[in-house]
Amino acid sequence: MKIAKKTIISDINKNLVKYYKNYNTNLKYDGITLSEPPYDDREAKAILKNFINGNISQGKNVKLFEKSFSKNIGCKYGIATNSGSSANLLALTALKNIYKLRDNDEVIIPASTFATVAMPIIQVGLKPVYVDIDLDTLNISVEELKKAITKRTKVIMPVHTLGMPADMNKINKIVKNKKILVFEDCCEAHGASIKKKKVGSFGIVSAFSFFVAHNITTGEGGMILTNDRKIYNECLSLREFGRINQDKLQSERYYSDKKIKNYDKRYVFTKIGYNVRMTDLQASVGVIQTKKMDKLNKIRAQNAKYLDNLINKYLSKNFMTTKYIKNYFNSRYTFPIIIKKNCKYSRKSICDFLEKNRIQTRPMMGGCLPDQPGLRYEKGRSVGSLKVSRLIKDYCFFVGIHPFVTKKQMVRMVKLLRKFLNE
Ligand SMILES: Cc1ncc(COP(=O)(O)O)c(C=O)c1O
Repeated sequence: MKIAKKTIISDINKNLVKYYKNYNTNLKYDGITLSEPPYDDREAKAILKNFINGNISQGKNVKLFEKSFSKNIGCKYGIATNSGSSANLLALTALKNIYKLRDNDEVIIPASTFATVAMPIIQVGLKPVYVDIDLDTLNISVEELKKAITKRTKVIMPVHTLGMPADMNKINKIVKNKKILVFEDCCEAHGASIKKKKVGSFGIVSAFSFFVAHNITTGEGGMILTNDRKIYNECLSLREFGRINQDKLQSERYYSDKKIKNYDKRYVFTKIGYNVRMTDLQASVGVIQTKKMDKLNKIRAQNAKYLDNLINKYLSKNFMTTKYIKNYFNSRYTFPIIIKKNCKYSRKSICDFLEKNRIQTRPMMGGCLPDQPGLRYEKGRSVGSLKVSRLIKDYCFFVGIHPFVTKKQMVRMVKLLRKFLNE
């Protein structure tokens, strides 16, 4: 059986190399897709090898992925999950359990971001506090954040929007000597950094997403990173049904207390948990993706610089782009374009035009979260007018800037837009 497996794997491997060498449709394509999973024969081989060998649920590849990704970002521990949303849910539950947060304690987040930044906060019984963003970076405004802090503030959850690091130094200064925890949402910012220190290593805990559109991907997937052993152990247990602490699992097989005697620890549940595990198939891809990440991010940054120059040179009457900040590395999940108020064309008409020309577009995620139908009647507190978040909701869209986007495709897009806007 073992020989047969080896033969199958070897035959498939040979064909995969040939297939991937001859297959790059993007070069023949004149449009711009939002994302392309940066896979080659290595990811395909890993999936097949692990599938054939039966490594299909959480196992050694998950451990390997946790180790390599946490090391790359600069954290001690990683806990892989089935999505970024689950990573947020688990990390918030862990913080609530460990720090004994009370229902309706407040978590400060940017108003303009993805839905499952706010939703897990509500799901665990805490309250999201929506704070406006800066137009220059699309990240949480530090000035507005200061105004939002009350006695009930227990967590600040900055999001590194579209790969741009939030101002972590100022945020960490704000919480110094206060009992406020910093939880970084890095779901859009793998490998982004401030003075070469990667985001995800500034707060007490952080969360990443490996959804298909992101800088590196396992299809669906997520990871929590931390240097805190208590948070690590709590997340391990929460990830698997609230099972007894994993550390204790290692030492002895059986558990006893007043009500159960010599019971297999795998089936001892000490808290209310979830099942949000990642599969070994996904993790085997994650290990390879992690190795490629920094190189891929450099190409994204080069592409973004090229497009930024083109837009500011030829389309500045109608469009604005976000700012560059010295020593900040923006890992460029996607490229945001802000339509100036004086532009005669609506976002809808511009995006419809681009889509008709095979250039995919999206609005800025959740726009302004407290305006969303699913959130507007839920608990939550908005600070100030959220003017910028609402402007972004109506006047911003993004296009793909992934490593397979070519200069030719970007030039074509800008030429088309110049014509459309009469610039
Ligand atoms: C800022 C942010 N947080 C959380 C998530 C959720 O990640 P996932 O789609 O893996 O659940 C996303 C999704 O893209 C996101 O952009």
